[in-house]
Amino acid sequence: MIKKCLFPVAGYGTRFLPATKSMPKEMLPIVNKPLVQYGVEEAIAAGMTTCAMVTGRGKRAIADHFDISFELEHQISGTGKEVYLESIREVLDRGVFTMVRQREMKGLGHAILTGEVLIGHEPFGVVLSDDLCLNEGPGVLSQMAELYRQFRCSIVAIQEVPMEDVHKYGVIAGESLKDGIYRVDEMVEKPDASVAPSNLAIIGRYILTPDIFDILRETPPGANGEVQLTDALQTQARQGCVMAYRFKGRRFDCGSVPGFVEATNFVYENHYSRS
Ligand code: G1P
Repeated sequence: MIKKCLFPVAGYGTRFLPATKSMPKEMLPIVNKPLVQYGVEEAIAAGMTTCAMVTGRGKRAIADHFDISFELEHQISGTGKEVYLESIREVLDRGVFTMVRQREMKGLGHAILTGEVLIGHEPFGVVLSDDLCLNEGPGVLSQMAELYRQFRCSIVAIQEVPMEDVHKYGVIAGESLKDGIYRVDEMVEKPDASVAPSNLAIIGRYILTPDIFDILRETPPGANGEVQLTDALQTQARQGCVMAYRFKGRRFDCGSVPGFVEATNFVYENHYSRS
């Protein structure tokens, strides 16, 4: 029912310099697959086959990745190496890719608003590809799309984090409805541990209803002087309803070097086919 997923992929990747000097951070591989492709596969598996990318300068490798490489197809076709192209061929068969450029970096909220032209007036998913989420069963976006059918409002993915880490995240508080599902009544972006309403941190998976765009237009810059999606969601929670969902699966913070290395080891041990 939700057909589109937005990928804000315009960020600089400063923590991975110099690797990210001329290469988008979303193209860094976890073993043999770029980070962004994991997110795209998760979205497509959830039925969100239109992948809308909010890109920026220096991100052309992402657009090229989700297109045919004619020379490569020509060279490899009919050889034993075709197996290496299988996953990206499947993505290209099933997905449609649309792009818009974010010209100025004014925060996640601004990136989402820049994607409005690609989304239109319908509910949509959001993947922050720095957060790699893996699950044996249905992926996190599939789990959230299922919940959307029930609640018909915006949903954020959450995870418990140590209190000393809450300042890195958007943090929610709310009424627990049933196992792992909360109705949000408070949301704060990157709070100090001393004022954080809980240790339930927002992870980079969202389902958003399109009224978020009008709210974002009216949302002033918040933490770090940036337009924060968390602030807009707080308004949406006050005006109507936002749910938070403690998802099933593992999440790796691939925006940090230790998380990236942990994900690499995990994927190599558990998902990489050595054949
Ligand atoms: C963004 C969001 C934050 C969320 C985090 C998840 O922050 O603003 O609310 O908790 O992603 O990764 P960023 O990591 O871009 O600073």
